[in-house]
Amino acid sequence: MELRIEGLTKSYKGGVRALDNVSLTIPRGLYGLLGPNGAGKSTLMRTIATLQEPDSGAIHLDDLDVLRAKDEVRKTLGYLPQDFGVYPRVNAEEMLDQIALLKGITNSKQRKEAVHELLHRVNLWDHRRKRLTGFSGGMRQRFGIAQALLGSPKLLIVDEPTAGLDPGERNRFYNLLAEIGDNVIVILSTHIVQDVMELCSNMAIIHLGKVLFAGAPDRAVQTLEGKVWRKSIERDQVKEYSDRMHVISNKLVAGRPQIHVFAEAQPEEGFAPVAPDLEDVFFASLAGLN
Ligand SMILES: Nc1ncnc2c1ncn2[C@@H]1O[C@H](COP(=O)(O)OP(=O)(O)OP(=O)(O)O)[C@@H](O)[C@H]1O
Ligand SMILES: [Mg+2]
Repeated sequence: MELRIEGLTKSYKGGVRALDNVSLTIPRGLYGLLGPNGAGKSTLMRTIATLQEPDSGAIHLDDLDVLRAKDEVRKTLGYLPQDFGVYPRVNAEEMLDQIALLKGITNSKQRKEAVHELLHRVNLWDHRRKRLTGFSGGMRQRFGIAQALLGSPKLLIVDEPTAGLDPGERNRFYNLLAEIGDNVIVILSTHIVQDVMELCSNMAIIHLGKVLFAGAPDRAVQTLEGKVWRKSIERDQVKEYSDRMHVISNKLVAGRPQIHVFAEAQPEEGFAPVAPDLEDVFFASLAGLN
């Protein structure tokens, strides 16, 4: 199974080009869509989820023409939007039952089984009678993934699912995603590099609607091998260094700025080589350096 996106372009009224000739091939497993705010991640995901039309381009899920056979796609799709709203006054079990019905599970016994199975799976069984309004952020996201998993989708799209979660909830959520397994295409968007490093076997970096990198995270890192250098500097020197060299990141380490610089060779005395990580790839890509 494979999702192929070809030449996808979308401009909004007012002239923002949210997608600019995006082509990606997405295999089974967890796929990370990494990009800063406004990159076009949600636009791309809504388009794949058949909720929005592109200006041009094509999407195929194997032989299925996603932009044409919308009903067909929706049967096999799970989608957790970035701003997943919850409905007041309904408990988790009732809500899932409703959504299951909408997804076409009309047999009530089957529906009950599916809902119960999912409540256990996302660890909300003990909270099934609780109203969704009283859920914590993590519980809401786990509920969100439960509704997305109803009907055993082959394509699962989750848009920035861990925003606002504490580290414990985030881990639980990711374990859940990792368990969903190898027979499903899971597309996960985030602007947190760490998320992609931990989870995804394939990824793309997008920025201002364009794909800057697509491939395996370790291949991305290899392209920077030997080209990233580190130095601790004073706070008032950051600008001076940025003016003179390609500073790709600037982090405080014990209160002192530590810069990472992109350069083919040691930029000057005092710089130590670092093994590049995905974060370097991300910032180097955004700066147009690799
Ligand atoms: N309905 C809309 N009308 C006009 N412009 C829009 C609309 N939706 C998104 N945009 C613009 O399109 C660009 C891409 O937005 P999009 O929401 O797809 O990015 P994103 O990568 O999901 O960002 P974030 O990380 O903030 O969620 C942005 O410049 C955004 O302002
Ligand atoms: Mg978004």
